[in-house]
Amino acid sequence: MLATQLRRFTETGITGLDQMLDAKGIPTGHNIFILGSPGSGKTTLAVQYLYYGATKANEPGIFVTLDENPGQIRENVLAFGWDLEKLEAKGLLTIVDASPLRRVKSAVNLGNISIGKKDFSLVSLIEIIKRNAIEMKAKRIVIDPLATFMFQYPNEFERRDAFITLLEGVSELGATSLFVSEVTHTSLERAHQFEEYLAEGVVLMLKRVVTEGMERLFQIEKMRGVNHDTKPRPYSISDEGIRVFPTEQFV
Ligand SMILES: Nc1ncnc2c1ncn2[C@@H]1O[C@H](COP(=O)(O)OP(=O)(O)OP(=O)(O)O)[C@@H](O)[C@H]1O
Ligand SMILES: [Mg+2]
Repeated sequence: MLATQLRRFTETGITGLDQMLDAKGIPTGHNIFILGSPGSGKTTLAVQYLYYGATKANEPGIFVTLDENPGQIRENVLAFGWDLEKLEAKGLLTIVDASPLRRVKSAVNLGNISIGKKDFSLVSLIEIIKRNAIEMKAKRIVIDPLATFMFQYPNEFERRDAFITLLEGVSELGATSLFVSEVTHTSLERAHQFEEYLAEGVVLMLKRVVTEGMERLFQIEKMRGVNHDTKPRPYSISDEGIRVFPTEQFV
């Protein structure tokens, strides 16, 4: 049997997106980079992915937040009808608060682990992800937003090494993972970030100013192992979350 016939896929549950992914989804176990402009709906997409996994695919997930606190995340997504506390109570979701990294002066408390700020290293982050993922038997992992963590590495080479180490650490868990980060240039013609070469898939969520106001563009820049749609497509954020329109074109 060919290796491709053995490959498994993880449905994203984002309306329209799986259709762009050859009606299959993301190859299971891959690390995907979600790159978007501020307020483009990256966190919403990431939570929607975990919510779908927990409620429709019986796949537990973990959300590692490096920015918003878990309370804010739970509250924000209630508008979409996603009751995260219910999933947490059932053991289908864990929100790991890694946001103290940004605030603390001398020590970081993450659950029952306490570490000095200087030692809040990549190794610690990977350890926290691993511990929670193994405990939950997580099939889906989200890290949001990665840029907050990467700011501590001003040197590009160091940053690249850190990202590779993080990718390798998360890969060992066998889950299908989304790494959320920011893009500063809204044009599709832009310099690529090194993470885009290293991740197995890259999805762009961009905003573009047009005469009528603002357009939202969704594009799968790369997805190894899937014959995916490469064209930019419109998407919306509504009471039901993110929806991509896979048959609509930009003129
Ligand atoms: N119920 C809703 N209906 C329509 N749009 C909504 C709704 N709730 C949120 N939004 C839109 O979603 C955006 C925020 O989404 P989200 O927090 O997922 O974006 P983000 O890309 O993660 O932002 P950030 O860059 O701040 O992390 C808001 O700016 C708003 O435009
Ligand atoms: Mg966000």
